[in-house]
Amino acid sequence: MYNFFKCPDCKKAMTLPLCSCRYEISCDGRVYKLTDDPYIINDGFTDIKYIGFEEIGEYYSNAAFFNKTVIDKKCRNIAKITGTGILLDLACGDGLYTVPLLKRGVNIIAMDISDKMLSLLYKRAESAEADISSLVVCRANALDIPLVDGSVDAVMANSLLHLISKPEKVINEIYRVLKKGGKYITIEDKPDADIFNGQILNEQENIENKKYCEMVGYVQNKYFQILKEEYGISDTKHGWLFNQKKICGEIFKEKDIYMIPMGYKTENIFKDSFLYRMSGKGYSYQSAVPPDIHKNVFERIMIDFTEIYGDNATNTVYTEYESDVEIAVYIK
Ligand SMILES: C[S@@+](CC[C@H](N)C(=O)[O-])C[C@H]1O[C@@H](n2cnc3c(N)ncnc32)[C@H](O)[C@@H]1O
Repeated sequence: MYNFFKCPDCKKAMTLPLCSCRYEISCDGRVYKLTDDPYIINDGFTDIKYIGFEEIGEYYSNAAFFNKTVIDKKCRNIAKITGTGILLDLACGDGLYTVPLLKRGVNIIAMDISDKMLSLLYKRAESAEADISSLVVCRANALDIPLVDGSVDAVMANSLLHLISKPEKVINEIYRVLKKGGKYITIEDKPDADIFNGQILNEQENIENKKYCEMVGYVQNKYFQILKEEYGISDTKHGWLFNQKKICGEIFKEKDIYMIPMGYKTENIFKDSFLYRMSGKGYSYQSAVPPDIHKNVFERIMIDFTEIYGDNATNTVYTEYESDVEIAVYIK
């Protein structure tokens, strides 16, 4: 067992579960509870700090959102970059990357603030029959990583920073826990935003996906129109626009770039992809909406939706051409 966890009490290095100061980390047999921070915490900068994935749970990822071939291609490269060292998968979620990386023999410490997501990670590992002997799973807050300085060889924190009001705070933490020469592995692909306004689609995709995008736009616009007019609730704004390259460029010593050609076409059905996630309040911009209000508004919209677009419209297909992925590795 690793000896570089940071004791929440005396702040010194410890081996789980018992610190030499006698503080004991609780564990339910699978997850070490290294923080008691609630899953929506106040980091002192804005009102909502990160999204409550306890509620999102299963609605976050399923086969319709993340193509297995695409994830596997990324993981093949991440495994090579990590080599035999220890990888911290920060905000690992339901193990979308953790599990394929385990299957490739990577030694992983997986951390997330959400018990629900960590339980889904175990579910994914079980169904993939992954060997979990090299995995340590912790409930932890990325704003205060419970590892002492210079602990791990590599860190990834996929799709986390846009949920945090001050992403540079997390990047500083990542830098701190990396060993000298350690690698912060980042994946740049299409951000999960604004698919309806066509910004991230190429010309051909725009033509092919016109109806799909129109329907997404209808549901999103109507949803937030009702929420605003009747409940005074707006969508939660996120920071996909923060400049990770600039922040990391200032902190890290070197940078390596790996391009992964994709050339892959994915087809998503409206009801299984966008609508499924939206119905479960699974988009981060829905995080400020209370569950009961969400349910009521969503059901009302779908009645109007069916009248306008017809019963069969939810089977409309969205064709996505996976763009090449850039893995940028920042070296300490
Ligand atoms: C969009 S998901 C990404 C999950 C995974 N990395 C992936 O690529 O599929 C974001 C995850 O970040 C977690 N998260 C959000 N804020 C966090 C924080 N401050 N500390 C730890 N985890 C956090 C959420 O619980 C959620 O599981």
